[in-house]
Amino acid sequence: MTFDGKVVLVTGGARGIGRAIAQRFHDLGAQVAIFGRNVEAAQAFAQELSKSGAPAKAYGCDVSSADACNAAVEEVLKDFQKIDVLVNNAGITQDGLFVRMKDEAWQQVLETNLGGAFRIMRACARSMLKARSGAIVNVASVVGLIGNAGQANYCAAKAGLVGLTKAAAREFGARGVRVNAVAPGLIETDMTASMTGDQKQALTGNLPLARAGKPEDVAGAVCFLASDDAAYVTGQVLSVCGGMVM
Ligand code: NAI
Repeated sequence: MTFDGKVVLVTGGARGIGRAIAQRFHDLGAQVAIFGRNVEAAQAFAQELSKSGAPAKAYGCDVSSADACNAAVEEVLKDFQKIDVLVNNAGITQDGLFVRMKDEAWQQVLETNLGGAFRIMRACARSMLKARSGAIVNVASVVGLIGNAGQANYCAAKAGLVGLTKAAAREFGARGVRVNAVAPGLIETDMTASMTGDQKQALTGNLPLARAGKPEDVAGAVCFLASDDAAYVTGQVLSVCGGMVM
């Protein structure tokens, strides 16, 4: 699998799963555009990547802002002339019991996890459709498929992302643009760092693969879906969850 000569955009690419995804694409030869809210962290990572192999560049972009999304995508197109692969990875949680969930927690999670993906896809789609080529991979979650107590906002956003993926796959397919999603299970990152060992054990102890996932586990699946090896795959959701969902 190679991404030589390809331009890959990863949102929330400075840490966690997004960082592992950006790293893997770069290892496979891609030029990488890293979008981050924290532009310094994204810049430090881009500089590290650029020391060997293809160039990488960081862009400050809060995906909950339409103006920021449009401006940052425009910058990427100016710098790299094209976007071959888009990975919508940026996401947040604001968990809480359903009846106590504040409108703000609902809106922020929906605006970031679902609205952000929509806005970046809309900003990238024109150039991909014109080029009649491209691959989009959205980072959803198993809880968007099966639900989870205390995460009504997050589950709704991730389920929405699955619907968005399928709608875009149907609309873009004839123009050579594929759209898929991965649905990670429990992955060891900052997002899950506040969970206790017992909580993690309760979720992973009975899994067929009996462990939490690593960011690199997700990166491999994302690269496959974006690659030519998946040329006949679109509108699919690939669970990367150690067998939590099957
Ligand atoms: P993380 O918290 O380490 O990373 C999230 C990244 O998204 C950070 O770089 C953050 O700055 C960025 N981000 C958040 N809001 C943003 C915004 N408004 N604009 C731009 N960037 C923003 O978490 P992790 O675990 O790496 O999560 C990555 C993705 O994977 C998220 O979409 C998450 O929902 C999803 N996921 C994570 C799972 C896990 O167990 N860690 C399981 C299933 C899905």
